[in-house]
Amino acid sequence: MSKEKPFEGLTALVTGASRGIGAEIAFVLATRGASVLVHCYSSHEQAAKVIERIRGIGGDATLFRADLSRSEDIQKFIASLGARRGFVDILVNNAGSLIQRTPFLDLTEELWNRVFTLNLSSAFLITQAVLKGMVPRKRGVIVNVSSVAARFGGGIGAVAYSSAKAALSAMTKGLAREFGPCGIRINAVSPGTIDTDYHRQFSSPQALEGVAKATPMGRIGTPAEVADVVSFLCSEEARFIQGQVLEVNGGFLMV
Ligand SMILES: NC(=O)c1ccc[n+]([C@@H]2O[C@H](COP(=O)([O-])OP(=O)(O)OC[C@H]3O[C@@H](n4cnc5c(N)ncnc54)[C@H](OP(=O)(O)O)[C@@H]3O)[C@@H](O)[C@H]2O)c1
Repeated sequence: MSKEKPFEGLTALVTGASRGIGAEIAFVLATRGASVLVHCYSSHEQAAKVIERIRGIGGDATLFRADLSRSEDIQKFIASLGARRGFVDILVNNAGSLIQRTPFLDLTEELWNRVFTLNLSSAFLITQAVLKGMVPRKRGVIVNVSSVAARFGGGIGAVAYSSAKAALSAMTKGLAREFGPCGIRINAVSPGTIDTDYHRQFSSPQALEGVAKATPMGRIGTPAEVADVVSFLCSEEARFIQGQVLEVNGGFLMV
């Protein structure tokens, strides 16, 4: 293992790696030597570009596809990983979305459940499957991608999303307690407002401007700024960090 490639010989699974923050996480882990299992759902072309980018730097990447907002598809995804799921060293549960901004009084149980399946249950089920391989090997790192919304409830129309992310942060801490003694580190990052398709879909330019103004750093963040923190959490430099939810938000919210 070299200093430039600390993840050489390790396999990383990154969900939601076709675009935005996940694509950047997959790339950064690959630049540091990891073989990456790239998960995508609907963005096939963008996922193919992520694979191409990783192979372009001499890295190794394999594509998997699944809708993680439906329980049956999560189970099929886990099955499709085959023997590889027993050898995942780094798991990043990044796939997530608020799916549809919906005022609370219009929120259906169906949408509530889909948001929870995508943002919480997928992380639960994939983590459980991967931990079964990590525990006997007594090593592994898991990073969950939560959200600043978990801290303040999110914007209007995001109650299900912010609730699911808050549960994901709590799950991170519970797992860290249970699996720390097995040599497995589990943490989360909590991005603030990051410049991705997420905001092209769910936020107005005025709202983004307002966030930038309210942020001590004077701007919103980039996917690479979150990916670098995830990579740090996966590294030996973070070997005594356990059960933490690291805020990456330019000072927008200080906790
Ligand atoms: N951007 C922000 O400001 C921000 C802030 C806080 C937290 N986050 C969190 O950071 C993570 C990444 O967000 P992002 O900003 O990079 O969002 P994004 O650009 O919209 O990308 C979302 C990723 O999640 C995947 N995904 C969405 N719905 C899915 C489904 N039903 N099944 C499987 N995968 C699905 C997408 O896959 P396909 O495109 O292939 O379908 C894509 O790879 C999410 O968990 C999000 O909640 C983002």
